[in-house]
Amino acid sequence: MLRVLIPIESAEGETRVAATPETVKKLSSKGFSVFIQKGAGVSAGYLDHKYVEAGAEIFSDITGDSLKNFDLCLCVNSPSNEFLLKLKSGSLIVGLLAPYGNQSLAKSLQKAGLSALSLELLPRISRAQSCDALSSQANVSGYKAVLLGASALDRYFPMLMTAAGTVQPAKVVVLGAGVAGLQAIATAKRLGAVVFVSDIRPEVKEQVESLGARFLDPPDLTEVPSQSGGYAKQVSEDFLLAQREKLSAQLADADVAICTAQVPGKRAPRLIDEDMLDRMRPGSVVVDLAVSQGGNCACTKVGQTLKRNGVTLIGASDLACSIPNHASALYSRNLLSLIDPLVDENKLLLDEEDELVNGALISKDGVIRHTNVFNLGGTN
Ligand code: NAI
Repeated sequence: MLRVLIPIESAEGETRVAATPETVKKLSSKGFSVFIQKGAGVSAGYLDHKYVEAGAEIFSDITGDSLKNFDLCLCVNSPSNEFLLKLKSGSLIVGLLAPYGNQSLAKSLQKAGLSALSLELLPRISRAQSCDALSSQANVSGYKAVLLGASALDRYFPMLMTAAGTVQPAKVVVLGAGVAGLQAIATAKRLGAVVFVSDIRPEVKEQVESLGARFLDPPDLTEVPSQSGGYAKQVSEDFLLAQREKLSAQLADADVAICTAQVPGKRAPRLIDEDMLDRMRPGSVVVDLAVSQGGNCACTKVGQTLKRNGVTLIGASDLACSIPNHASALYSRNLLSLIDPLVDENKLLLDEEDELVNGALISKDGVIRHTNVFNLGGTN
């Protein structure tokens, strides 16, 4: 029987867990023996006894060679290097392993002889949608970013007609209309705001308009922003300068800006500079979801809420952790969808011809793949 371990997440501030009683039940019915580290689900609202009822065993001893008993480790973030080195050689670890430029992760995988699937690298194709953890978690972040913006704002979101007169709806600018941005638009619209959206991928315009928001066209330059696999590629500094000029007036009139623009593996584009912040109304709010990648907005700080000339700047990293119960429910279903087709007669088969496996497999039995992602040189 394949033995799977769900560890307690060790990253600071992490509240999610990689399996819920629902997915444990499904894993058990597929022939896995599931072991949950004691208390692993508590911060997401899933208690040990619920896992046991679903068929898991509680596991508390991670000393000595006890981690060598597992064939598969499902996690949210990568465990510590020390933990990785204790796992069984040839076993598989699956999670949001943050491989970009992460040479210490590469070394640990290599040294421990582990296979690893990193969900960030799944190709954005239809078949991958049910496993797409970036999407499920970005959806949570987009929703929560708007709630944070609305509660920090000194105004209502909806238009109200009251006996004391009419209140105009809040104006929200969403920068980046990927998964988080689209959810932010939908949430802000549901709360009654008027929403303006900027993105550099032209196909997004239709999606934005179908949600009832107004699309701000990208700068009209000869440079056409390119993309690969559904993602935007990095644009030049000249392009960003022109984009900031176009956005400046819109932001000066905005109540809330929700920043979600990102380019995988690169620094986030700077879309709001200090001059633009100077023009924003005191009482307005910027929620920067790209803050961990360098920020779309000047002056935002990871995990901090600051005031700058009366404008509230929220550096919102890891918002998925603030709704851990649903975020874990969705994430663990993503993992199940990815793992299920890999099981064949009680073995895990990593078929490198499979587009999903090929994309996400960053290490096979300790041999590092996608060395360019880790910045290790090479091109594969
Ligand atoms: P992301 O988090 O990498 O980027 C967010 C947004 O920022 C993107 O829409 C991007 O175009 C935009 N952006 C980048 N530079 C910008 C700039 N200078 N100004 C304004 N906006 C900028 O992307 P995310 O949300 O992970 O997904 C991107 C796209 O991938 C989706 O919209 C969709 O088309 C595709 N996708 C496909 C899936 C599938 O088929 N399995 C699943 C999920 C997404």
